[in-house]
Amino acid sequence: MSKRVLTTESGAPVADNQNSASAGVGGPLLLQDQHLLEKLARFNRERIPERVVHARGSGAYGHFTVTDDVSDLTSAAFLNTVGKRTELFTRFSTVADNLGGADAVRDPRGFAVKFYTEEGNYDLVGNNTPVFFIKDPLKFPDFIHSQKRDPFTGKQEPDNVWDFWAHAPEATHQVTWLMGDRGIPASYRHMNGYGSHTYQWTNAAGDAFFVKYHFKTNQGIRSLSAEQGQELAGKDANSHQTDLLQAIERGVHPSWTLYVQVMPAAEADGYRFNPFDLTKVWPHADYPLRRVGRLVLDRNPDNVFAEVEQAAFSPNNFVPGIGPSPDKMLQGRLFAYADAHRYRLGVNHTQLAVNAPRATTADNYGRDGLMAANAQPRDEKNYEPNSYGGPAETGTPLSAPLAVHGHTGTHEAPAHSKDDHFFQAGELYRLMSEEERARLVANIAGGLSQVSREDVIEKNLAHFHAADPEYGKRVEAAVQALREG
Ligand code: HEM
Repeated sequence: MSKRVLTTESGAPVADNQNSASAGVGGPLLLQDQHLLEKLARFNRERIPERVVHARGSGAYGHFTVTDDVSDLTSAAFLNTVGKRTELFTRFSTVADNLGGADAVRDPRGFAVKFYTEEGNYDLVGNNTPVFFIKDPLKFPDFIHSQKRDPFTGKQEPDNVWDFWAHAPEATHQVTWLMGDRGIPASYRHMNGYGSHTYQWTNAAGDAFFVKYHFKTNQGIRSLSAEQGQELAGKDANSHQTDLLQAIERGVHPSWTLYVQVMPAAEADGYRFNPFDLTKVWPHADYPLRRVGRLVLDRNPDNVFAEVEQAAFSPNNFVPGIGPSPDKMLQGRLFAYADAHRYRLGVNHTQLAVNAPRATTADNYGRDGLMAANAQPRDEKNYEPNSYGGPAETGTPLSAPLAVHGHTGTHEAPAHSKDDHFFQAGELYRLMSEEERARLVANIAGGLSQVSREDVIEKNLAHFHAADPEYGKRVEAAVQALREG
């Protein structure tokens, strides 16, 4: 093998990579030392803005195989035949901390999947929790400010975390979930994933269904206690990254079984609570799980920056047969992600290998911009319509239209008979064993007792009381004991 020659970025050979050029022996350095200047300048530009949320994460490639016929529900081509296999990329993440944060912390986990389908990329950007803290995207920046590092103290502040929740009674269900046993997954392999929002599926006949996605881990759910999490996070900040990487390198390929809950579109208006409310689950007794297929992860990315840091998942990347519901949170997300990508990665991020379609080709009139890599042939027109056989619209909407009525305005979601904030939080509490309840109460009290203002504590306690009187009493007693002790 011939010896490889070190070159500058423009390909010229480098004579010395150990000593920078100076004016005489021991003298100051020379502006003409292109190699030094380029090396330092490039190094200064290695980091890009981290994700404003979900900054810390791990990625892996894999595939999805359809195991059950769902063609009565959706016309999506990648789901239309039992046995069909679609390549994919996933990224798991924590939410609140910055890029250098620890993995084994109490936080929801992102569960983002990019299916490289023959009809374009389908991104399902979910979490390991079936619900969320809020129901209107207008609150998202405030919510995240309250959970991330405080601009003055530079660390997460119980005062901010709980003050936000004091003003968000709708968060009680998700707070109960987060403070419970599943709040610290033992690894990314040992947690479920959920689409969380309600989405819309449309079949070939044009019938519309509302669906919720559930990826159930085939490794079994495993979680860490607060103490185990603290110890692991302190010892090894990269615990979940290492676990996923090593499992796949060893050939132990993690898998999840995908199920959907399906509501015929006509049932949405009359359901007892708003089926588009992201703070609620649909009881399985109402809408049982229907199996769809199996997701397997079998390949690690070669380069974390290129493939994981630059991965761009966007909930508005739909394919024919799949579309949004009117969930306001989802609607807000349809804007937010691609906007974040244009800021974080630039307008041509869709040309990066991890983000570009793989089973089809993007063919449109989007042109140029910073770092445009895909050059169009000279006879391709850059306008539409044209007389030269350029790509043209299909005239077929991707999914069924959503019904609307009334006037524009800053409306609350339409009221259903059982829309209260606390009912499902209470149900989750009552489902727990005595040991689980004790750990839940201790975890909440551990955080809430650190809050400096009595009124903020009182408001939070009122939410737990409203969910279940026993739950409220126990949290109150535990907070009091910690504050007195
Ligand atoms: C209105 C509410 C929300 C807004 C405005 C929002 C916004 C964002 C933004 C701007 C990012 C960073 C994207 C990037 O730079 O690549 C992000 C990441 C993410 N969000 Fe949200 N988010 C919201 C709610 C949610 C919900 C409800 C879920 C889960 C059901 C979720 C799951 C994720 C995941 C998994 C990522 C990381 C994706 C990745 O791995 O690259 N978000 N979010």
